[in-house]
Amino acid sequence: MHRKIILSIVAAGLILSTGAIYVKSSEHQAEKQRTRAALSTPDPASMYKTIEYLSAAPREAGTNGEWRAVKYIEKQFKRYGYQTEIQPFPIYHYKTNQISVKINGITINETPEPFTGDASGRVSAPLVYAGKAQKSDINEKIKGKIALVERGDITFVEKVQNLVNGGAIGVIMFNNSPDGIVAGQLPDNVTFPAVAISRKAGLTLVEQLKTTPITANMEVDITKIETTSYNVIASRKPDKKHDTDQIITIGAHHDSVPEGSGANDDASGVSAVLELAKLFAKTPIDTELRFLTFGSEEKGLIGSTYYVNHLSKKEISQIQAHFQMDMIGSKNAGGHHPAGGLIMYTIDGRKNLVTDLSAAAAKQVTFEVIPYGKSGRSDHEPFHQLGIPAALFMHAPVEPDYHKPTDTIDKISKKKLKQTAEIIEDAVYQIADPTTPAISKGKAIQEGVDYPFEDRTLE
Ligand code: BES
Ligand code: ZN
Repeated sequence: MHRKIILSIVAAGLILSTGAIYVKSSEHQAEKQRTRAALSTPDPASMYKTIEYLSAAPREAGTNGEWRAVKYIEKQFKRYGYQTEIQPFPIYHYKTNQISVKINGITINETPEPFTGDASGRVSAPLVYAGKAQKSDINEKIKGKIALVERGDITFVEKVQNLVNGGAIGVIMFNNSPDGIVAGQLPDNVTFPAVAISRKAGLTLVEQLKTTPITANMEVDITKIETTSYNVIASRKPDKKHDTDQIITIGAHHDSVPEGSGANDDASGVSAVLELAKLFAKTPIDTELRFLTFGSEEKGLIGSTYYVNHLSKKEISQIQAHFQMDMIGSKNAGGHHPAGGLIMYTIDGRKNLVTDLSAAAAKQVTFEVIPYGKSGRSDHEPFHQLGIPAALFMHAPVEPDYHKPTDTIDKISKKKLKQTAEIIEDAVYQIADPTTPAISKGKAIQEGVDYPFEDRTLE
């Protein structure tokens, strides 16, 4: 046995060993001790191998690079004896065939950016200034007109929706800062000619409109292209005799940004998902474990959103916790913070079952206290939206290589990989261990370690 007792279940809240988590059992009043004998320790060399394979090519969602990763992940899950599923879903991107804006017949002397979505249309109409396109800026005057608006204060989607509701037939948005051109997002399923221009060009038009009427002409031709991205799902049902009817999900995203290599973001998380799947493959459990790798996280959490939207009501009620690992291996992340800068982010910035269990596990594994904080930006978000306790595990502040081609394997720390995987392994096992009682949503934890909230800078 390579590890000492890590958890004691103590009747009536009696504390027998420091640093342990105390789970109250209403039925099991007898004292129990759990050893880690049932679990083996994550092997950083095998995690490293996964990252080596995955980071050898970019894995942008919808490309062959993603498919190469998906097949590899599926193969490993199968090798460990899991039932696996590759879950396809559509993703869209847009190709600009033509974009032009004319003011009183003269083409403006910069190239506008189309909004993301189907910003197609050929319209010609008077231009009216509509501030930031807040509800209060919308009146009869914009009906049938092209609206000139400023970026800021409300979301792009809200702006466009307000303009559509007010009867505008196109929008030209200028930046609220002098830094270049920033285009926004169209609302889902809305086709509307929408382009962005620089602040300078926008303010010139605002001035011009004070004295002269302007006719604007927009010609935008965009093609919507559908491709397929995938989630990989591996599950293991609990032993029939000990089945709490509960599920835990453990996830990472396998896609990278187009420029790759995504060794830390998020081949590192995938390596932990695979390693934990391997370690849990033969361990007796009373909880269903689902190991998930998501596609299209970098395109807006599309894979994880698709996954949760296709769960049944029953499954949603069964899932007790979601552990998301995203960027868990960089040598250059985490500054001088304890435990290599490991931090647990929740969407609402509050503790939950996942952070409670993991904070206690982290204390056991690293002998340090890790904090929790508030952040979205990864696949824990759609789980949280369903009311499932969820957290994102990463090292913060993030490394300078984040989303750069320099996010390569040579920056990966085996120690950080192992440590993070081990913490999640322990936390998961505290629920899945057949000798511990079932979790009753968030309430099973009576006392854990103290761990602080930290508003740590991310970048
Ligand atoms: N791994 C990052 C998440 C991240 C990075 C969280 C830095 C906190 C700090 C993730 O892959 C990512 O880049 N997410 C996108 C958001 C997503 C909704 C497209 C991001 O943060 O830009
Ligand atoms: Zn990521």
